[in-house]
Amino acid sequence: MRKLPDVPAQRAFAIAGGAGQDVKHESAHKHVSGEAIYTDDQAAPADTLHAYVGLSSIAHGKLRKLDLDPVRSAPGVIDVLTLDDVPGHTDIGPVFPGDPILVDEEVEFWGQVLFAVAATSYDAARKAAQLAVVEYAPLPADLTIEQGLANKSFVRPSHVQQRGDAAAAINSAPMQLQGEFRSGGQEHMYLEGQASLCIPQEDSGMLVYTSSQHPSEGQKLVAEVLGIPMNLVTVDVRRMGGAFGGKETHANQWACLAALLARKTGRAVKLRLARADDFSATGKRHPFLSRYKVGFDADGQILGLKLELSAGCGMSPDLSDAIVDRAMFHADNAYFLPAAHIEGHRVKTHTVSNTAFRGFGGPQGMLAIENIVEQIATATGLDALAVRKRNFYSATDGRDITHYGQQIEQHIIAPLVERLEASSGYHDRRLEIREFNRSSPVLKRGIALTPVKFGISFTVRHLNQAGALIHIYTDGSIQLNHGGTEMGQGLYTKVAQIVAQEFQVDLDRISCTSTRTDKVPNTSPTAASAGSDLNGMAAKDAAGKIKSRLTGFAAEHFAVPAESVVFKDSCVCAGEHTFTFTEFIQLAYMQRISLSATGYYRTPKIHYDRDKARGRPFFYYAYGAAVSELLIDTLTGEYKVLRTDICHDAGQSLNPAIDIGQIEGGFIQGMGWLTTEELVWGEDGRLQTANPASYKIPAIGDTPPQFNIELLPDSPNVEATIFHSKAIGEPPLMLAISVWCALRDAIASVADYRLSPVLDAPATPERVLMACNELRERSVQ
Ligand code: MTE
Ligand code: HPA
Ligand code: MOS
Repeated sequence: MRKLPDVPAQRAFAIAGGAGQDVKHESAHKHVSGEAIYTDDQAAPADTLHAYVGLSSIAHGKLRKLDLDPVRSAPGVIDVLTLDDVPGHTDIGPVFPGDPILVDEEVEFWGQVLFAVAATSYDAARKAAQLAVVEYAPLPADLTIEQGLANKSFVRPSHVQQRGDAAAAINSAPMQLQGEFRSGGQEHMYLEGQASLCIPQEDSGMLVYTSSQHPSEGQKLVAEVLGIPMNLVTVDVRRMGGAFGGKETHANQWACLAALLARKTGRAVKLRLARADDFSATGKRHPFLSRYKVGFDADGQILGLKLELSAGCGMSPDLSDAIVDRAMFHADNAYFLPAAHIEGHRVKTHTVSNTAFRGFGGPQGMLAIENIVEQIATATGLDALAVRKRNFYSATDGRDITHYGQQIEQHIIAPLVERLEASSGYHDRRLEIREFNRSSPVLKRGIALTPVKFGISFTVRHLNQAGALIHIYTDGSIQLNHGGTEMGQGLYTKVAQIVAQEFQVDLDRISCTSTRTDKVPNTSPTAASAGSDLNGMAAKDAAGKIKSRLTGFAAEHFAVPAESVVFKDSCVCAGEHTFTFTEFIQLAYMQRISLSATGYYRTPKIHYDRDKARGRPFFYYAYGAAVSELLIDTLTGEYKVLRTDICHDAGQSLNPAIDIGQIEGGFIQGMGWLTTEELVWGEDGRLQTANPASYKIPAIGDTPPQFNIELLPDSPNVEATIFHSKAIGEPPLMLAISVWCALRDAIASVADYRLSPVLDAPATPERVLMACNELRERSVQ
């Protein structure tokens, strides 16, 4: 089903599990056997209490009364936490203030935390949390982007990126189009929900186990709410059962509340959200409304673009500044925009604060331009792929600078798309599909090929750093720790492979320990797909330090030149002398050589002046393309993806098996966002789709029956990334835009491809049906 790249000849592997090899995920067997320990599985002290939260039941209003006596007197209840009990900071906003740990006077969304309760059992705590008597004085609530825009309500100032005079370029263009387009939010649906366990320590310290992508931020916020220094808080994260951005900042509140209750009661406290409350009380992908005006010529070449991107941020800033920036950075996708004016608005709504989600705004910006490209194709009568190719960045005629001034240095997209066009038989299949559609009145097929260009680096520059810590013990075993967290993406596996490669030992000699703030401090979130780029380099640095120390020792001890000390095949040679790795380590220990080192890395070359909206925010770009073919029923709107072919650029892959897994998962997750996953709020601001019965994520049966994935061969990163690999975590999600475009293609057949369907995302069967009906009506007018 899937095609793994051939192992390059120069990489005949002398060790088992080095960089570039198809190694299984370090915990795969534990995931399936149930032995993998998640936060809720951590051994907890016998007297551990269970916490739960009481949530608001209006979207916006003043809190008039909060009577917690019935909660306090409920069976099993030990203590209740209110805002007055917080000794330190009460705002846990990660970047900007605006996220109260508990509601003070004003409720800003349905599901906001009013108080927390600790009881002797999980059930007792949950039941007690329902007993509060709450009265509100409701206020008008903005629940949609449109309402927030109308009220000029924003969580952060708007921002513009521009080049040239877009309005003039549009006006003088031979053809123009304008319109509006919406994409919906997305629930993370991590298998493991939000969970934290806090255990009080001596000297008012706190040990925190939490399912978080950002242990250091959890540490800082727990210290702040407790009013103690960070050096008294240790956060430990062994793994998450999925995170997808939903645990970058939105894990903090549960750790802070558990820590506050642990401090107050003097006992360990565990807080785990039930799924429906996790849906209501934690942020999601931002929905976007885009308004555009584009000028182009009869060849489909874009001449000018005005794009207004408005994101529904929810009630607080959280990460929305960076998320909308990333949407704006990706409003070009892979296309050169000679004149562009791109505006980003951070709209405030009285809904849960939206947060990071795989792609971090990139998918929303990219979908906005792909919708425009589709409209241009219909208006010009060209194949959408021809329009795409005409607009690609290219090295030839100065069309290689983005609208924010970054030069495209590696022109991968055109050859990658050509390769996929050929391998997928795109053109023949497109003709054959049009033939089929002529003779099939109800069932229609569609096909689309879409590209992805995704910028790699945190756009917040200081986050592009990482640390690692390596110990070698006297039995020759190696213990590895770094600042990255494991959420299923295979980061621990990849970093261990890098260390195996450096020492030229088998992978099974290395154990990865949980990510801990007392081992590697001041870490960045594991996000922006940069986990292996950053932590892999930091680990390589640490390994390199130990190796050069050992080399220096061996050279001196055996009186040989340093060049003749070689680490090879789990052995170390020093001139004529050869030792097993373990023997050599024991010798070094006996000669009092330190066998431990920290490593550090910061990404070079990146800079960005946000005031001027110019610079090089990304170290490099990752590329990919996908062709999807599907079948729709134009009388019901139901559809089925029949085949997807993907070619993706992972550079010199660190682990092709894991990278292909990331491509599969990312694609399917993106397909869910664009097709079946629909968030629906009631007029009272309550999330109606707060469980998997009403919120439809893709199931195994939605996998395309033909799913061909290829890593672009012979494409090492030109930048000096870790072994010239490329980040893989987020970019493949946007390959699913091919599915949304193929749906449009199938729908367009209803009016013989003369009209462009209106199809907001997610393109649920209902929306597909409505789009078919609308096209039928328009085509007879
Ligand atoms: N893969 C799995 N299995 N589970 C996850 O939670 N998160 C994604 C991606 N792949 C995720 C995943 C997101 S949002 C990011 S940013 C990256 O993994 C983070 O890890 P990396 O930087 O090590 O790729
Ligand atoms: N991606 C993911 N998370 C982030 C980013 C980013 O670009 N910036 C800040 N947090
Ligand atoms: Mo990923 S959205 O950067 O956690």
